[in-house]
Amino acid sequence: MKNNIGFEDVMKVNYNHVFTIQPARPVTYFGVGAIKKIDDIAKSLVEKDLDNLIIVTDPTIWKATNVEQFIKPALENNKIRYTIYDKVRPNPTYESCDELASLAKNLGAKVLLSVGGGSHTDTAKTAAALVKYPQSNAKQLYEEIIMINDAIPLVCINTTHGTGSEVDNFAVAQSDGGYKPLIAGPALYPMYTIEDPTLTLTLPKKQIISTSLDAFNHSFEAATTKTRNPYSAMLSETAIRLVAKWIYVANLEPENVIPRYWLMYASILGGISFDIGLLHLTHALEHPISALNPKAVHGIGLTSIFPAVLNVTYKVFPELSAKLLSPIIPELEGVVGEAEYAEKKIEQWFFDLGATEKLGDLGFKNSDLPKLVENAMTSPMSKILFDYAPVEVNESLVKTIFERSLSRR
Ligand SMILES: [Fe+2]
Repeated sequence: MKNNIGFEDVMKVNYNHVFTIQPARPVTYFGVGAIKKIDDIAKSLVEKDLDNLIIVTDPTIWKATNVEQFIKPALENNKIRYTIYDKVRPNPTYESCDELASLAKNLGAKVLLSVGGGSHTDTAKTAAALVKYPQSNAKQLYEEIIMINDAIPLVCINTTHGTGSEVDNFAVAQSDGGYKPLIAGPALYPMYTIEDPTLTLTLPKKQIISTSLDAFNHSFEAATTKTRNPYSAMLSETAIRLVAKWIYVANLEPENVIPRYWLMYASILGGISFDIGLLHLTHALEHPISALNPKAVHGIGLTSIFPAVLNVTYKVFPELSAKLLSPIIPELEGVVGEAEYAEKKIEQWFFDLGATEKLGDLGFKNSDLPKLVENAMTSPMSKILFDYAPVEVNESLVKTIFERSLSRR
């Protein structure tokens, strides 16, 4: 691709789309040692009369990150009462959100403190909202209310470099009916977020890759929605460049905090980008995968289908896609005819990083395609995200993407 073509030249921005330029809503403390900010946060909570708190985590993360040494004195010195809820599970269900909400109501909790990744943050966000919607349960929140106007405050201590939930105003949960719907609204922004790269050092190796590639997907999708804009695209471009550069180093040197610093920074940028620019096909089609197979890891579900999605969207945005992917596939020239090449090369990159699972490896067979397609076409979340896709989404397109994703091309 010609180097003199600027990013703004290839964005094909919609000048009539009015968007909000704002810093990420939570006050976000980022950097090595940011965990110590819990002290200032505790002081500020007390000043706001928020002196009763539930820590929302799971035993593995709680132990591995050893954040207790910072949290406990901060809360105790500021006379904040606290209870530890450590039953968060990956892909949280309505039931687990309801369980935390009823604990919060029974204890009169005034604030929830999430310690973990996306599942912890989303469980806490849902419960924080449910406290303010006492007549409703998680099912009603996700299936009837959806736009959330009120929630008790949430503080996040992020321990991964992928979710974005700690800086955005969305949450997802697993429904009883096999869907992953979302709730949204400004009330779901955390009040404070701590992003300390040292807390990601104990992530298992597989999660280094899956969370970083989640951030990559957030960034690429947000820059290619119908609601893309120069601000979110700028964040995405930087985030993708950082993931491409540092994911290898993090993989080779899991104890080195420098790559984690940049991956966490990239993840924050990607999170802000999709908070503003929104998401489309890859996330819309990943949710049926993890809804039907709750053991499927979100980031891996995304990478299993991203190449086939890219094949479709590359034809709409060849120059923009080539620019965004230039740190990974520098030879792309930004022409429609290289969509299939881009698809193969990005899949190769995922495989080189160890993200080798395709739908077949995630437990889906050819005969499962109708089930996946039906879930995607009827899921409330997908219906919302399809509207932001840069192409017209129909059953046949969805089937083609799933079909192309069953095994390596
Ligand atoms: Fe994601």
